[in-house]
Formats: sequence, C-alpha cells, structure tokens
Amino acid sequence: MCGIIGYIGGRNASQIVLGGLENLEYRGYDSVGMAVTDPARDGTDIRRAVGEVSELTEEYDIIALDGTTGIGHTRWATHGSVSEHNAHPHTCCTERVSIVHNGIIKNYEEIAERLESHEFSSETDSEVIAHFLGEQLRNGTSLHDAIQQFAVQAEGTYAVVAVDTETGELFGFKHGSPLAVGIGDDEYFIGSDVHAFGEHTQDVVFLEDNDYVILDLDGPAFHHTEDGPVEKEITTVDESAVGNGKGDYDHHMLKEIHEQPDALYRLQESLNRSQHEKVERFVELLQENNKVLFTAAGTSYHATLLGVYYLQKAGIEAQTLISSEFQNYERVDEDTLLIAVSQSGETRDTLDAIEYSQERGAEIASIVNMPHSAIQRESTVSLEIQAGKEVAVAATKTFSNTVLTLLHLAVAAGYDGQIGNISEHMRSVIQENEPRIQELAAELADEDDMYVIGRGSTYPVSREIALKLKEVPYIHAEGMMGGELKHGTLALIEDGTPVFALVPEEDDEIVSNVHEVEARGGNVIHISPYYGDFDIPEDRDAFPLYATTLGFLLSYHLGRERGCPIDKPRNLAKTVTVR
Ligand code: G6P
Repeated sequence: MCGIIGYIGGRNASQIVLGGLENLEYRGYDSVGMAVTDPARDGTDIRRAVGEVSELTEEYDIIALDGTTGIGHTRWATHGSVSEHNAHPHTCCTERVSIVHNGIIKNYEEIAERLESHEFSSETDSEVIAHFLGEQLRNGTSLHDAIQQFAVQAEGTYAVVAVDTETGELFGFKHGSPLAVGIGDDEYFIGSDVHAFGEHTQDVVFLEDNDYVILDLDGPAFHHTEDGPVEKEITTVDESAVGNGKGDYDHHMLKEIHEQPDALYRLQESLNRSQHEKVERFVELLQENNKVLFTAAGTSYHATLLGVYYLQKAGIEAQTLISSEFQNYERVDEDTLLIAVSQSGETRDTLDAIEYSQERGAEIASIVNMPHSAIQRESTVSLEIQAGKEVAVAATKTFSNTVLTLLHLAVAAGYDGQIGNISEHMRSVIQENEPRIQELAAELADEDDMYVIGRGSTYPVSREIALKLKEVPYIHAEGMMGGELKHGTLALIEDGTPVFALVPEEDDEIVSNVHEVEARGGNVIHISPYYGDFDIPEDRDAFPLYATTLGFLLSYHLGRERGCPIDKPRNLAKTVTVR
C-alpha cells in the first residue's frame, strides 16, 4: 500500500510533506521518511524513522530542514522488514535521484543484477528504482527516456515520486498504483490521492497508467510513455471528500460512527436527487444483463452480501465473490454486469477483477466512496456513497452508506422494502445504546473468543461485526450463519462463551439456534428489537445497519478497554493497492 507525496513550490517543503504524510497515514504506518532539497543547492536531506509520522518529528527537527522541493513516504511493508534502512526515500548510490514508491516491482532482482556497479542498502524491491534512474541520468539519458526505459523493463505495480537532485525537478510516473497531481498557485503537489494535498488545492489531475509528469516551478508537463506529451483534464474535487480532523472525539473511528446519521441523510437526498438518473441507469443495467456479479474486499465484501440479499428480493439473481479470488471462480461474458464495490475505489484485487471482466466484454458498474477513483473511472455507471472522508482503518460509516445504496437500488428495481427514517433511527440507536455498550465492553474486555450468528440479512452483519472485533480490539471472532453452528463451531461453546445473536424479527429462526447455544452454557447477547437490552427500531430492512452499528460501537469500546491503537490497528492499512 504505502502513501507517497511530493511538493515543489515556494514554501517550506518539509512542513507540507509532513502534513501530507499525516493525511496519508491510513495507507500504512510501519515506517516513514522524507527527502528535502532545493534547486539552488546540491544534495538532499533525508530523514527516516520506524513507526508512525510522529516518530519522525520526535526524532528530528523536520521543519528546520531547508528546501522547497520534497518527497515523503509512509510505508506498509511488503518486501523487507520494518526497519529504518528499508524505510523510504531510497537514494541511488550516485546520490542523483531519491524516490518514494507505492506498489511492488516483481522483477527487482533481475533489474538489480544489471546494475552491478551499484551498492544497495535495503532489502526492498523499491530501491532498484532509484539506482535504475540514477544510472540512466548519470549516463546522459534524458529523464523522459529514463522513465520510458523503466516502464519497458519493470514488471509489477508502481506509483513513484522522485526528485532529480541535479536539476531540482520533481517527477512522478505510475502503472497499476494511483497517482494524482495537485495544481496550486505557483506550487504543485503529487501524491497517492487527493488527501495528500487536499488542504492546499482541490484542482487535481489523475494520472492513468504509463502517464508521467515532470514538475518544476513553471508547472506540470504531462506525458505518456508511448504517446509523448498529453493534455490532461483538471478536476475540481469536493472539499468535503478531503476534510480531516477528529473534532471533539478521541478517535476517528468513534467520530465516524457518530457521523452516520448525517451521512445516511446526505446519501438518501443524493440518491433521490442528484444521483437519481444514475440510479435509473444502474437499474437498467441490472435488468439488461443475464448475470449480475458483485466483487469487493473486506468490509465492502460484507456489504455486497447484503446487496445479493436485497437484489434477490427484487427478483434479480446476483452473486458476490471476494475480489482476490474472482478470477479463480467466476466466468464472465458480454452478458455480465460486474458491480465493483469499494470505499477507496483503489483496491488492487478489485481493479484486477474489473480488468479481467472488461477483457471478457462485461459491463462495469461500481459503488465507491472516493469520487474520481480508479474504480469509478473504469465504470459505465458509478454511484457515490457520499460518506465523506473515512480516516480510521476500520470502515464504519462507509459500510452503512454502501448498504443503504444497495437497499435503495433494490427498491428502485422493484423490491417492496421499507427504508423508513433511517437517519433519525440511526441517531437514536447510537444515543440510546452506547452507554449499555460501554458497560458490556467492560464486562467482556478479557474474553479472547467471540461468536456472532445471523441468518438471511443478518448473516452479512455477523461477518462484519466479527471482522471489527478482530481488527479493533484484537479479539478472535467468527461471524456465521446460525444454522451452521451445529455443524462444528458449537464444539467451541463453553460456559460463558460470548455469542451475539442477531434477531431482527420476533419469530426469527435464529431463536432456535440461540437455544442451542444457551443449552451449552453460552453467554447469549441478543441484538434485537424484541429480546435483550438494546433499544432498536422495528425497521426490518434497516435492521442490518443498526445491528452493525452496535457491533462497531462494541468493537470500539472493547478496543479502548484493551488499550488497542484503535484508528491504526497493527499490520493493517486502509487502502490496499497491492495484490
Ligand atoms: C482494507 C481496509 C478495509 C476495507 C478493505 C477494502 O482491508 O482496511 O476496511 O474494507 O480494504 O477496501 P475498499 O476501499 O475496496 O472498500
């Protein structure tokens, strides 16, 4: 994954790069680093540290670094351990070029072998990029030819931002990983996404594969490795999509859970108004194609399970598959509609499933949170879930808004569903139940295993709650179909084992599964409008959203009780741009 940023302009580059890295930290936080230089001087100051961005500022007086050109990197380790020498930026041993990289260069060893006079100082695949470019430029190759040569030789995925210390030029190129250029007033930014520089400018150019850009104080020059100079369109992005900050909350996760009523309201309005035509087009595509397939990863995959459930109620047969396994299990053709669901709009496995389906003639639709993202750009029609920026690695409000989008689509396609006043009901679910959730978190804080059972529309909820219990408080949890319990997992139920039962209706079949657990001494906690301690509206179709939100709150408060790093769980990242 990794977040990368570059800046060239008249201001202190270290300050801007630092701010950008803080905004990109959700892409990885194993290590961090930056390089700062100036066209007026030779050489580059490089500072790197293991851990989060704050480690860099604790170890060094970053702001004192002098220079108006800078690059920075926040890492999610793929090749090479988490250590300072593997942290980016990497510099060619000639010191001509420093680079930051997001992606994986698969044939880095092969390229490195051809650079035999070069001394490597890390175990990363990325370092080879610095030596390759440094070697080319030292031999008098133009920057254009050096980038083109790299594109010919490199296999894998990359978004690279680099600085040529001799000319002071900042440049970036990409294949398979995202890269966006921000256009300011006599200053320019380049980064993994608009969050890298959104507080400075909202005028953005999104690079496509094999595009590259050379930035100096005269502005950006865009090129394509095969087509030469290219004109690129400037897009103005919505400021609300790039906003940041925790407000009065201790963590982004809690803030984002509490933002749900407003986010749901905003989404409902837009689906009924500004996105209404897109909804109609989406429904046409659902009805025109013989086969409807969803694909997604993580939390977005759980939302698609609900998508399948809701569409089936509208008489549309659909299936879903986790995007990393899509090509192993799915057959697609010209009569297939592929619906890619992704908060970031960038998940590599989901993009691969799209590419695979496009090659076989399928139509692509998507549901994303990030406007202008790669997945949206590949789609015939793309609905935006309008959740605003989500910073916590664990997705919360984006799950709810994705599910509401899917429910809205099913209703537009003919499902006789009842959505109700979902925004106000969500507000009361949070307000009325959070104190009880806090007590429960204190009671359960020492538990190491938990189970969540659901049926029908609550099976996806059970999976999502279990995922949150793993991610945030690091509790081993399983979400499963209530009917499956007796086929194995029941063997793990002992006296006091916590089992959350999702019971949307009074006579739901899950009740008999609850009895099976209680008979073995399990500690059943009902999430239901009818049983147990929680106050939940009798709103059948929106119940999955309310139940998941209680799971979000429980995971959050358990995380606090257990002293976990809530917004940045160990080993994870929010935007996953590697396979
Ligand atoms: C990562 C995030 C998850 C997210 C998943 C899919 O694993 O930590 O929260 O659900 O990627 O991301 P997407 O952006 O495609 O929804």
